[in-house]
Amino acid sequence: MNVVMIGAGYVGLTTGACLAELGHRVVCIDTDAMKIARLKRAEVPIYEPGLSELIRRHMMAGRLAFSDDLASAAPQADAIFIAVGTPSDDDGDIDLSYVKGAAAELAPLVKSDAVIVIKSTVVAGTARMIANLVAEIRGDSDVHVASNPEFLREGSAIGDFLEADRIVIGADDARSADVLAELYAPLRKKGVPFVTTTTTNAELVKYAANAFLALKIGFINEVADLCEAADGDVAAVAEGIGLDRRIGRAFLNAGPGFGGSCFPKDTRAFAATGRRYRQPQTLVETLIQRNEARKAKLAAKIIAELGRKGGRVAVLGTAFKSNTDDVRDSAALTVIPALLDAGIAVVAHDPKARKATERLVPGAAWRDCPYEAARDADALVILTEWDDYARLDLRRISGLMAGRSIVDCRNLFAPHEVTRHGLKYVSIGRRP
Ligand code: UGA
Repeated sequence: MNVVMIGAGYVGLTTGACLAELGHRVVCIDTDAMKIARLKRAEVPIYEPGLSELIRRHMMAGRLAFSDDLASAAPQADAIFIAVGTPSDDDGDIDLSYVKGAAAELAPLVKSDAVIVIKSTVVAGTARMIANLVAEIRGDSDVHVASNPEFLREGSAIGDFLEADRIVIGADDARSADVLAELYAPLRKKGVPFVTTTTTNAELVKYAANAFLALKIGFINEVADLCEAADGDVAAVAEGIGLDRRIGRAFLNAGPGFGGSCFPKDTRAFAATGRRYRQPQTLVETLIQRNEARKAKLAAKIIAELGRKGGRVAVLGTAFKSNTDDVRDSAALTVIPALLDAGIAVVAHDPKARKATERLVPGAAWRDCPYEAARDADALVILTEWDDYARLDLRRISGLMAGRSIVDCRNLFAPHEVTRHGLKYVSIGRRP
């Protein structure tokens, strides 16, 4: 099939490349001409494992192209995906103007029977609103609007797409359902389950899924705090409850609080939707507050660990999780400024996220390797679960540090592995 992807951001690029992998001809469109020029040279602006290789392979095979010319690409397309940004305001409400703008631009260009597929994360009712907008502009109802939420995790997006747990198709008409079923047919053949439902349900599935996963994390984080007080070990508790198939072990890793471009924003949008319909999502409202408070509390815990004014802290990991260069809403964005405000010198390291972090939180010194960051530090804090950190030579770290405390917010080590090098180990959900 001929596919146009509007928006060459994270979701558009990964989805576009993966649809090419399924055998479709895909043109990714973006208004950022510089970005398109780079992509035409196969320079991928984001870090996502395997993505550059996938893009290069399909460009060479003629299945994937990049353009800033929507008017030329749109008329040939059977399906046009909208994967543009939906920024949120202070109340959590999302701004649909880019989605509406893309739909309005598309409306007169696309052929009859084309399906406009909303990939951006949008609140319930958006696809129907866009269908009305498109019909109004065209003066007919020939073009269909569907919803197809994405469930890709940064860092493992390609695997999440090609071995999806499910494909959710939101279709209010038969044509939309058929086109989306055909697009994803290779995955159905591989046994991926399909949920075909209304556009509104598909939109709700996306938010409810992210809110539920975020609730799992928020829950285990509170259990971790209880474990610390009650002399328990949160890893053992997570294993014990996670083996119950009704619960599941995934997303029960206690940590510094969830971050990234999705959970914080989507939980706020879900809560805002609840308020709009006078059906307050109180669990999610509380989760949002507790998650933010957790990051601030963590900074206080690190400052307390130093036990004196000033000093020097090595911060390892500023990305919101491993295998990404994304720092949006990461714990580091709260922790580093709080340490700097307390007069503490911060020496940071991250394998991929240095540039992005420096833009958002200036004031930290940076080193190219974790050992150099640890040199002369009074305390070392691990905020991201990069594999390299789990493999740190702790004897070497112990020799380099001035102080003794390691505050590991990702529980990368068994306590005795750390303490046998004369270090104090402060982790999450376990007593030091
Ligand atoms: C999340 C969802 O997992 C995807 O299914 C969804 O498609 C995506 O949002 C989206 O809406 O686009 P992502 O934000 O890339 O994906 O990252 P996750 O792996 O879900 O992690 C989110 C945050 O939760 C990170 O800060 C991570 O460190 C934290 N987390 C995750 C924990 O603290 N504990 C866990 O057990 C799992």
